[in-house]
Amino acid sequence: MRRKIVAGNWKMNKSVIDAQQLMYQLLEYKKNNPTQCEVWIAPPSLYLMMAKDLFEKNEIGAFAQDMSEHESGAYTGEISAEMLESIEADGSLIGHSERRQYHGETDSHCNRKIKLALDKGLTPIYCNGETLEQRKSGQHFEVVKNQTEVALFTLTAEEIKKVVIAYEPVWAIGTGETATPEQAQEIHAHIRNILAEKYGKEVADEVSILYGGSVKPDNAKEIFSQPDIDGGLIGGAALKLEDFSKIIEAFN
Ligand code: 13P
Repeated sequence: MRRKIVAGNWKMNKSVIDAQQLMYQLLEYKKNNPTQCEVWIAPPSLYLMMAKDLFEKNEIGAFAQDMSEHESGAYTGEISAEMLESIEADGSLIGHSERRQYHGETDSHCNRKIKLALDKGLTPIYCNGETLEQRKSGQHFEVVKNQTEVALFTLTAEEIKKVVIAYEPVWAIGTGETATPEQAQEIHAHIRNILAEKYGKEVADEVSILYGGSVKPDNAKEIFSQPDIDGGLIGGAALKLEDFSKIIEAFN
């Protein structure tokens, strides 16, 4: 069975007090509500150690939003896979479209980061997805195929099973415009086929593929009910327990 996951990407939001408060709320919620999916958060990395201290029994996964493609050294402002390993973080988002858009990240960078993460026992959440122009011109299947191949195809079958993929069409992020469940399913199935062609169907069937882009309490159930959608990577709606918990409950 593939892992079912609801992950919250907090992006660059919240003071330390507000972050701590939401972590406590989530922990309380998780203790009192058995969930049908794993619950992960990716707070700003400044707050990751706090998350790890709070989530003592690992009830909630704690992920970085990005990590360096280098092992260590003179890379001001970066955090390494080794550092994440040393605080027992669970993994890192890699290749989020905002990293691509504002920091020039490419799939080759993603490939190096994913390798480093796996070498340190971290779970990479590899994000991909097409822009609005690419969708409008009918290139979305090709774009996602290329992204997937460049970022992932140097991995072994054992490694690929440890990767979580998040399909996040750029035009649906923070816009309130969601891919329809059918549009999302179509690309998720496409990604799984690409993996199956390279690694075989059994391996491809083990890889969790999350959907991200304006997932909200009122559309989560329909999106998650699609056969190749194994959960969500949630932005705005992950910032309040009220919304995030309803999305988690879409799996119940
Ligand atoms: P929104 O849910 O705010 O559209 O953000 C999605 C996202 O980028 C998650 O990584």
